[in-house]
Amino acid sequence: TRVAVIFGGRSAEHDISCGSAASVLRFLDRGRYEVLPIRIARDGVWQIGTDTGTSAVFPAGSTSPLTSMIAALGALRTADVAFPVLHGPFGEDGTVQGLLETAGIRYVGSGVLASATGMDKQFTKTIVAAEGVAVAPGVVLRDGDDDVTDPDRERLGLPVFVKPARGGSSVGVSRVDDWADLEQALVLARKHDTKVLVEAAVDGREVDLAVLQRTDGTLDVGPALEIRHGASFFDFDAKYTPGAAEFVIPADLDQVQRGQLEDAARRVFTALGCAGLLRADFFLTAGGVVLNEVNTLPGLTELSQFPRIWRAAGMPYPELLDHLLSTAR
Ligand code: DAL
Ligand code: MG
Repeated sequence: TRVAVIFGGRSAEHDISCGSAASVLRFLDRGRYEVLPIRIARDGVWQIGTDTGTSAVFPAGSTSPLTSMIAALGALRTADVAFPVLHGPFGEDGTVQGLLETAGIRYVGSGVLASATGMDKQFTKTIVAAEGVAVAPGVVLRDGDDDVTDPDRERLGLPVFVKPARGGSSVGVSRVDDWADLEQALVLARKHDTKVLVEAAVDGREVDLAVLQRTDGTLDVGPALEIRHGASFFDFDAKYTPGAAEFVIPADLDQVQRGQLEDAARRVFTALGCAGLLRADFFLTAGGVVLNEVNTLPGLTELSQFPRIWRAAGMPYPELLDHLLSTAR
């Protein structure tokens, strides 16, 4: 089986994607798969790599994004399956999925609509809330909208979290403890998206759930992972500085909590129309489970939550990859 691993990309999570892909390339069973690595550079130029067993060698020099993409599509047509290991806009958001769909190339993970919806925190919240999953109270500031009204300030309280609607790895996210700092937080978030969410802080434990879809369509939910960190929130540094956060798998939960989280994870997957895999990030509060956000292409480094959850469930990384590739469509 020939597998194209697409990584890098134009988003702020370019480096994270390269890290995820490094692990994917390392753990793909070379006895079973022939690997075609394809890197999208920060400027959008697609580069076709040469698989040398454990590392990918890329040609120097570049052409335009469009010309290189067309060349890459030609190479992709020789693959049996594509694995978009991309995080953030221009890859986790349905754009690359649409390209693969149009070109008739099978790929791992969610399709166009679920990817686009899952990338947008506002649409994610709207859809899952309509299916009975609780989400954090918040307001949406669209282009030209620069303030939160007094009644909304009162309703949300402090602190609030200011987030680009479409982003990942907490890039562009700020915690605001004083309304005087809202403007600065908005400027930062707007570097990444014109649409920004201002959300109430949720008082609860941070628990991630991983969902895998079987080839028959049924869902497996892995053991819950609790994130512990000493930062003011689980920001980029807490996420990616080795040792800054600790993952507890399985999280110490009672049966009711576990049931609520698993049920919510399944509902979120189904409500969004996901395929293949999903990591749903929750807060576990005294009043129940609150969805924070989802990742249709969660971080896949060896130390990332998703692979660690499945390893704890008895599925080592190479087997996880076999499974994901088998569900491609
Ligand atoms: N967006 C990053 C990659 C994650 O959620 O793991
Ligand atoms: Mg995310």
